[in-house]
Amino acid sequence: DAHDAPAVSESPASTPGEPLTVLFGSQTGNAEGVAEQAAERARAWGLDVELKDMASFGKQDLKQATRLMAVVSTQGDGDPPDSALGFYELLAGRKAPRLSDDHRFAVFGLGDASYEYFCESGKVLDSRLEALGSQRLCARVDADVDYEEAATQWIDATLEAFAALSGSAAPGPASGASGGAAATYSRSHPFQAEVLESQPLNTQDSDKQTLHVELSLEESGLEYHPGDAVGIVPQNDPVYVDELLAALRLDGEAPFEEGRQLRDALLNDFEVTTLTRPFLNHWAEISDDAELRRLLDEESRDELREWLQGRHIIDVLEHFPVEGLEADTFIRALRKLPPRLYSIASSQAAAPDEVHLTVAVVRYETHGRARGGVATTYLADRVQPGDSVPIYIDHNKHFKLPDDDATPIVMIGPGTGVAPFRAFMQEREARGASGDNWLFFGDRRRRSDFLYQAEWLQWRKSGLLSRLDVAFSRDQQDKVYVQDRLREQAATLYDWLQAGAYVFVCGDAERMAPDVHQALLDVIREQGEYDEEAAAEYLRDLQQQKRYQRDVY
Ligand code: 2AM
Repeated sequence: DAHDAPAVSESPASTPGEPLTVLFGSQTGNAEGVAEQAAERARAWGLDVELKDMASFGKQDLKQATRLMAVVSTQGDGDPPDSALGFYELLAGRKAPRLSDDHRFAVFGLGDASYEYFCESGKVLDSRLEALGSQRLCARVDADVDYEEAATQWIDATLEAFAALSGSAAPGPASGASGGAAATYSRSHPFQAEVLESQPLNTQDSDKQTLHVELSLEESGLEYHPGDAVGIVPQNDPVYVDELLAALRLDGEAPFEEGRQLRDALLNDFEVTTLTRPFLNHWAEISDDAELRRLLDEESRDELREWLQGRHIIDVLEHFPVEGLEADTFIRALRKLPPRLYSIASSQAAAPDEVHLTVAVVRYETHGRARGGVATTYLADRVQPGDSVPIYIDHNKHFKLPDDDATPIVMIGPGTGVAPFRAFMQEREARGASGDNWLFFGDRRRRSDFLYQAEWLQWRKSGLLSRLDVAFSRDQQDKVYVQDRLREQAATLYDWLQAGAYVFVCGDAERMAPDVHQALLDVIREQGEYDEEAAAEYLRDLQQQKRYQRDVY
């Protein structure tokens, strides 16, 4: 179980006083946050600590890190964070250093259990460090989206083990090392933000529904910067909750915890749609269904993936029914309802007491059932102007305007990927930034889906936006995407790169981001007359200099 406290293995004595390296690989900052927490705790334990980013952690660093605590997240299909790609190449390649049994390590992985390759980069790191000769001090932990508690447990257990290694009698933290009373809003203590406005961004005849939502931050003291995200703590669709209750023949009115009914808990606290591996394992146990057990076998991996397509928890309950199940047993199989993150579409320089979001409403039908995204339908259907929505700010250090206002920027954001670029433009306008701004936007049809069209055209007119290239995929016979526009503009784009431009990509992680990445490689190869390897290095350098930043989901 990912949330069990890690087992501490036997630890032969080693030289005291060796520094502890807390290493992180982070995309949006969660892994970095856990690493910071670990470093802070370790200092309170009296350990000598170095906090390091995989982005600049080389062979020598790895050899010297005889005590290593590593925290890494996993993206989409099992990939490490962008900034950690170089480090992973080092680990896997022939140039990886030999480590000795003086080396000790512990790995904490962050991921999302609804993905097939859950915590893959943590797993890879854990096994590579061992294969290179280092000794695992504590069992790896694979943490799901609600990782905070697991992180705190891992940090304490691991620090105890490291402290024991250095012979210090595990003094424990000095006092109140973490936590503290800083009265700011967070995931577990969200701010109730009033909905000020919610407007459609597509025309009625569009086959998409995208909303512009404005929330009030008044009296919250909350601050954000362009590139940050808002976390929304949604409520489930009552229709789904009632379906689940009916399928399980449970009474929603029954008391669940002190003063609470079961239905209320399902509405607010637990994820009731998305399937995860732990849920399926639990359900196989509860139902003792031979067919489900077979599907969960390693040999049925492809068949399971196929079966899961378009299916939710309700489908599992119906396919593999269980009679007379207790509410508690069901609830134990569920994970906490994770908040949903939305890239912020406004700048506080333009709207000090507000935060704006661009929300694509997710609705579809599979296996004869209407489905919807939890948070997107919550925002679209279940709250109205005047209601309040629980939110917090999720800061993203890895998607930030250049400090130098004269630096040119290229923004690539099809669909809702355009949101942070509206924030960028508001910010640069307010700052009077002189740097050139170039937007690549794409969506289905110009007439119905040109999100924030009036604003882009206005900025184009005022000169704030130096260039605007659009790709409306369904306005002609053949699909045209933003990456086609990048290729068409290869010469100019390369000039911008050579002039020091930053490149930002936001939006779909699965297909768009890799396609755009390839287009950038092609542009660099062709215009810079590089071979493939050199073009890849050029782009990796940009990434390392934080001149190529992505916020993809
Ligand atoms: P499509 O739906 O017509 O295929 C925003 O969703 C826009 O991104 C749409 O125009 C969509 O086109 C387009 N899109 C789909 N796949 C893409 C890809 N691989 N790369 C870039 N844009 C893509």
